[in-house]
Amino acid sequence: MQVISAIDELRRRTRAWREAGLRTGFVPTMGNLHAGHLALLEEAARHCDRVVASIFVNPLQFDQASDLVAYPRTPEADIAQMESIGVDLLFNPEESSLYPHGREALTRVEVAGLSDILEGAARPGHFVGVATVVTKLFNCVQPDLAVFGEKDFQQLLIIRRLVADLNMPIAIMGLPTVREADGLAMSSRNQRLSRDEREIAPQLYRQLQDIRGLLLNGNSDYAALEQAATERLQQLGFEPEYVAIRDADSLSDISNATQSRVILAAARLGHTRLIDNLRV
Ligand code: PAJ
Repeated sequence: MQVISAIDELRRRTRAWREAGLRTGFVPTMGNLHAGHLALLEEAARHCDRVVASIFVNPLQFDQASDLVAYPRTPEADIAQMESIGVDLLFNPEESSLYPHGREALTRVEVAGLSDILEGAARPGHFVGVATVVTKLFNCVQPDLAVFGEKDFQQLLIIRRLVADLNMPIAIMGLPTVREADGLAMSSRNQRLSRDEREIAPQLYRQLQDIRGLLLNGNSDYAALEQAATERLQQLGFEPEYVAIRDADSLSDISNATQSRVILAAARLGHTRLIDNLRV
């Protein structure tokens, strides 16, 4: 696996692949890889001739400076895992090459409407940071296909909309959430849970499954279902931020036009903020 941090060198490699008629798949990450990230890389490899991964802990998408500092960085272990599954190229740019004029004086990408609800309401500026860095990474790598996780459901919708609205010639693929045996969605944040919190954490997914069961049984009192799950999470020791049943294509409230539904939740457990979602 080649490890490249310079944008012009990256472009030389990916251009050579394109000229040779090879399809390039891309998986952007912030590192600290787990089985969820590896599933995305393996999916990219199934559909493409070459796979590029990136590791960049994007300062623009952190709404809290302490969160950015605390973000786990494990480059050696990440590189070993990427090599073991046959990633061709790792792009790990320096902050100074992606943001040469600093974090403020920057053209920003905002996906209107989708960026300031749910996760966006809880974390102001987060999705502008995500959309901006993903646009920049796409322009650096110029992939044919990029793979994202449904774990970050709203992020995936925002990337799909961004690529459509800006006419980017990139196919976007979403992959189901990879979970621990007890149902907890894999996340680098899970390491911050205490032993007691780790016992409780799978209950977040269990609440989503319970709501899903009730919805499939014909219950459509969405507000009551959201409220009951919120109270249950509180009883279990979470501090819920939202439990929301939404249209899976637009994340707006359920309407007659809704074709499929998704349940999304965010809750704090001690110092750790967990998110999860489940399609109905
Ligand atoms: P990061 O949190 O490192 O996640 C990288 C990719 O892995 C995202 O597409 C995310 O949805 C996916 N992922 C995380 N946990 C997963 C799981 N349990 N199962 C399946 N996929 C999972 O998301 C980001 O980084 C950043 O916002 C980024 C897109 C790289 C932009 O900076």
